[in-house]
Amino acid sequence: MQTVHSLDPLRSAIQTLRQTGTVALVPTMGALHEGHLTLVREARKRADHVVVSIFVNPLQFGVNEDLDAYPRQLERDCNLLEPEGVALVWAPTVDAMYPQGFATNIAVTGVSDGLCGASRPGHFDGVATVVCKLFHQVLPDVALFGEKDWQQLAVIRRMARDLDLTRPHVDAIIGVDTVREEDGVARSSRNAYLTAEQRAAAVTLPTAMKAAIAAIEGGAPVAEALGDLEKALLAGGFASIDYAELRDAESLVPLDARSDRPMRLLVAARIGKARLIDNMAVVPR
Ligand code: PAF
Repeated sequence: MQTVHSLDPLRSAIQTLRQTGTVALVPTMGALHEGHLTLVREARKRADHVVVSIFVNPLQFGVNEDLDAYPRQLERDCNLLEPEGVALVWAPTVDAMYPQGFATNIAVTGVSDGLCGASRPGHFDGVATVVCKLFHQVLPDVALFGEKDWQQLAVIRRMARDLDLTRPHVDAIIGVDTVREEDGVARSSRNAYLTAEQRAAAVTLPTAMKAAIAAIEGGAPVAEALGDLEKALLAGGFASIDYAELRDAESLVPLDARSDRPMRLLVAARIGKARLIDNMAVVPR
């Protein structure tokens, strides 16, 4: 496994890989956990070579979010990736990614609105900008992202389509199922912020979401199902709810009734020091 930090060695490494097969990209910000390794394992099934990018992207951090405190542990991350058969780690410096005077911003409207976009202004512009650059740098055949960040995935899919970053009719942006603990709680590095009691209470999130989905699919009014979901979360130990919404799965247009297109229930709620997010599919009418 090779690790490169600047563009020239990246380009020659990518050229060499492409001579012997297809390339899958797994973009990350490092501090890797089982969720990332699941993406890497899926990537290995989809292409001959896997490239993992590790870059803590300053553009996607807001002024009140502590960019400096974000964990940087490249050596540990590489030790996790090597046994997974990763061919190349692209770990650019900030200067390599954003040279002096960098002034371009990619804003994907619509899908970035509301949900996590409401509490993190500019966040999805930062994600879209860096992912667009990563696609141009690595020229992957496929790229894999976790479905846990559904809005991020929707933003990236929209951007890739709008900017012709992937071949037409090829589903090159692959969303990988959220990895869950045995009780159904989505795996997240944020779960580590929870006390044992809060972790036990966190199970209310997937169970209340499943109940809301069953209600909506069974014909209950969406507002009523979402209201019950919020009540269940508060009764179950959550302190507050940032959002609980039914949206079109692709365009993320808010829905107040069950539609005949794929839908997604998306929730962000706070418990203890953690803000947990989750999303699940809702079967169309
Ligand atoms: O999901 C992440 O880790 C980041 O948002 C991503 C996609 C690597 C872009 O920096």
